[in-house]
Amino acid sequence: MDIIVRKAKEYINTLFRGNADGHDVNHTLRVYKNALQIAEAYPESDLFVISLGALLHDVDDHKLFHTENNANARSFLQEQNVEQEIIEQICAVINSVSFSKNRGRRPGTLEGKIVQDADRLDAIGAIGIARTFAFGGRNGRQIEDTLQHFYDKLLLLKDEMNTEEAKRIAAIRHSFMEEFLKVLHEETDL
Ligand code: ADP
Ligand code: NI
Repeated sequence: MDIIVRKAKEYINTLFRGNADGHDVNHTLRVYKNALQIAEAYPESDLFVISLGALLHDVDDHKLFHTENNANARSFLQEQNVEQEIIEQICAVINSVSFSKNRGRRPGTLEGKIVQDADRLDAIGAIGIARTFAFGGRNGRQIEDTLQHFYDKLLLLKDEMNTEEAKRIAAIRHSFMEEFLKVLHEETDL
């Protein structure tokens, strides 16, 4: 089990090499770390499915790869001789993570809920702020225009968390974003 997790880390390192956007390898490693932290509060959850779901959650992201039916995740897991039934569970987790694909729908499994929360936590707090301005800059947007994303999405995420543990962490990150926005408005009031 641990060997497959290590191989998955090596795999994403290679796959995301040279990618400096919000989906770089460090995003995936943070989601993995968040997921393990949330999972500690749920001893009944399947840590293998959560770990692989988190580590592979972006390997078939349509913004980066032109694969169908989780092809990258599946071929990696098959190479590691993971049982077909477990591969299906991991792919179900991966497919339940995406914000845009799943508007309003909650994942059907505890493992899906945990990894979705883990991914959303990386969109808020200090790291969420950093990712958002990096994204805005890359897309040629000014700071003022990028700010709209906080009101459109980031400030709504704390109420979208599935698990109590993620709600707890999200509340802290949310207050930090509110404080940041307050100070930013003070400093930039013209
Ligand atoms: P995911 O694929 O993880 O659901 P996205 O690809 O939509 O998330 O976004 C990745 C990161 O890029 C977000 O956390 C956010 O910081 C940033 N981002 C996405 N859309 C915008 C936007 N319209 N303006 C500013 N930042 C954005
Ligand atoms: Ni992600």
